[in-house]
Amino acid sequence: MVKIGPSIMCANMGELKDNILRLDRKDVDFFHFDVMDGRFVPNFTLGPDIMKSLRPLTKVPFDAHLMIEEPENYIDVFSEAGADMISVHAEATTHLQRTLQSIRDRGMKAGIALNPATPLTVLDYIWDTIDYVLLMTVNPGFAGQKFIPLAMDKIGELHQMINGKNLSIEIQVDGNISYETIPKVMDRGAEMLVCGTSSLFKKDKTLEQAMDELNLLLS
Ligand code: DX5
Ligand code: ZN
Repeated sequence: MVKIGPSIMCANMGELKDNILRLDRKDVDFFHFDVMDGRFVPNFTLGPDIMKSLRPLTKVPFDAHLMIEEPENYIDVFSEAGADMISVHAEATTHLQRTLQSIRDRGMKAGIALNPATPLTVLDYIWDTIDYVLLMTVNPGFAGQKFIPLAMDKIGELHQMINGKNLSIEIQVDGNISYETIPKVMDRGAEMLVCGTSSLFKKDKTLEQAMDELNLLLS
């Protein structure tokens, strides 16, 4: 079953509570929180306080995508804010295995996020410490970017590696996940779709209409 996760940074910030409640009623599978520090990526977005204030509104899992330097220093903060799963960038932490293990030690799912240019070989020695791999299909930092073509091949290659090792690790994709790219990423084995401005938060559709269209595409 392919999962849909709204990208909260793409929601209407003035109507965040309303957006969460409406998406909760549409049975989304997870909420994706983009956390940026202005260093690892050239932008600032959501922080733990926002996550904490939204936590009582829904039982749907909260997925924190940490696009920050030294994410190991913020695992506790996001755990306390209500995250159920956290992904850290391989490029942003020196002791990757330790960071991933510390996420699991706190009872959360551990994800490793890879920039488009980062090779899959970085996964070689951490297969047993990850629950999901977040493949960035744009360079992280901003909504509304173009899909990077070679990232499509990477999804298929990762899928083959996971199957070959008989592991149950999910592939999450993030960046320009649109009506056009969804069938292609699904075909290559993506199971968690981060849905932002390209598919869910659209000017010409209500959230309900966009969710209905997405579900139709997935059925
Ligand atoms: C990119 C973010 C994504 C982005 C996805 O850095 O991690 O979550 O908001 O949304 P669109 O569909 O605008 O690419
Ligand atoms: Zn993200």
